[in-house]
Amino acid sequence: MINFPKNFIWGTATAAYQIEGAWDSDGKGESIWDRFCRQAGAIERNETGQVACDFYSRFPDDIQLMKSLGIPHYRFSVSWPRIFPAGTGEPDIKGLDFYDRMVDTLMAAGITPWLTLYHWDLPAVLEDRGGWPNREIGFWFRDYAYTMAKKLGDRVKHWMTINEPWVISTHGYWSGEHAPGVRCRKKAFLAAYHLMLAHGLAFDAIKSVVPTAKAGITNASQYYFCLNRHPAFEEWRRYADAENNGIFLEPVLKGTYPEIVLRHLGADAPDVREDDLQQMCRHDFMGVQYYFDNIVEMSDNGKALVNHHRYPFFHYTEMGWPVTPSGLCEYLVTFSREYSPREIVVTENGSAWADFLAPNGKIYDVERQDYLIKHVQQVFEAVKKGAPVSGYFAWSFMDNFEWTRGYRPRFGLVYVDYPSQKRYVKESGHLYAKMIRHNGVDPAWIDRSQSERKS
Ligand code: BGC
Repeated sequence: MINFPKNFIWGTATAAYQIEGAWDSDGKGESIWDRFCRQAGAIERNETGQVACDFYSRFPDDIQLMKSLGIPHYRFSVSWPRIFPAGTGEPDIKGLDFYDRMVDTLMAAGITPWLTLYHWDLPAVLEDRGGWPNREIGFWFRDYAYTMAKKLGDRVKHWMTINEPWVISTHGYWSGEHAPGVRCRKKAFLAAYHLMLAHGLAFDAIKSVVPTAKAGITNASQYYFCLNRHPAFEEWRRYADAENNGIFLEPVLKGTYPEIVLRHLGADAPDVREDDLQQMCRHDFMGVQYYFDNIVEMSDNGKALVNHHRYPFFHYTEMGWPVTPSGLCEYLVTFSREYSPREIVVTENGSAWADFLAPNGKIYDVERQDYLIKHVQQVFEAVKKGAPVSGYFAWSFMDNFEWTRGYRPRFGLVYVDYPSQKRYVKESGHLYAKMIRHNGVDPAWIDRSQSERKS
């Protein structure tokens, strides 16, 4: 049995577009994801987030369920187009009212709200005005942050500005596999830069309203490592790390931008300004989101190849991602050593498996329990090694719309039967509740006896 330090923060996380549904209710504006999902073939089985988990209407029951499991902290995101259907101008009263009621319901249940301002659902009208590659977005985002802080800052004391700027810029503006589906390297790096600027501006806006708030940003954190120690490989590892982690971490934690990336990008590099870097350099805590780590290898044509499918010896989740728990501790420790963040919160970690709802209403998700325990153990190891980790949020509270993969991958601790919208707590959900009660974990808690029921 391992025990975490007193006051360790335990929570679960979700995001607006993945759970709320009600995509055009009460005056909500269109988001880039509403639009993207309508493109044939963009999402597996052409699924959309139009209904999702219908959290918009069902949130009181979902919060009661969270309470019944004893989950003390809940991380959710606000849908920007619910608040500013026209992108800028006057906020929408009904949109604000929804989050006002939701936060009140959380408080009444004794659950601490952790609010993310941007989890990928940009108002489509702002994409029409240039989206993240347009520098003005930093100021639109600042005004949105200010509006939310004014409305909820009396109750919400934990704020996250942007969720995973890496995914937004690379998937949204470079490979085009995510909304808004743009394929342009230059725009991707501009977007990445403006995301950081928006973070810094929003940080100040939040603090101007709620000086006692704690604010941070969450990053997709991948620990890159080479199997081959050849110097050329190591050079590529350093580059992959700078391009995927450094351009988001250096501005926030050091007020610098990785030189190696500027050199490599040439004409596609953003115009990095000293005053911008100073504005970006803000954090009270850093959110680390970890799913798996990455191997860097050299391809035949001499280019770097970052390919986690090269782990022949690992177990893979439903996403096709390898289960690599030790990378979490390594990342937390290395990140702490290299960047000295004030505080780290693991704001997402979880896994998708082909869950099966047994006739008795149970879900014997042994793999998820195993993943959960192994990763929480690694967080504990990192704390022991001195990383300033103060909390852990499991992704996700319930199954939800997994972006381009639709509803098939199930990440939840709670199973959602979409046709009936009924919720069933998985065995991993009960396990997590037990971990929270004990403020620690014992690997012997996994009940493996039922695993054969799946087949
Ligand atoms: C995102 C979540 C997503 C999860 C699993 C994270 O990158 O923040 O929205 O569901 O990964 O793919």
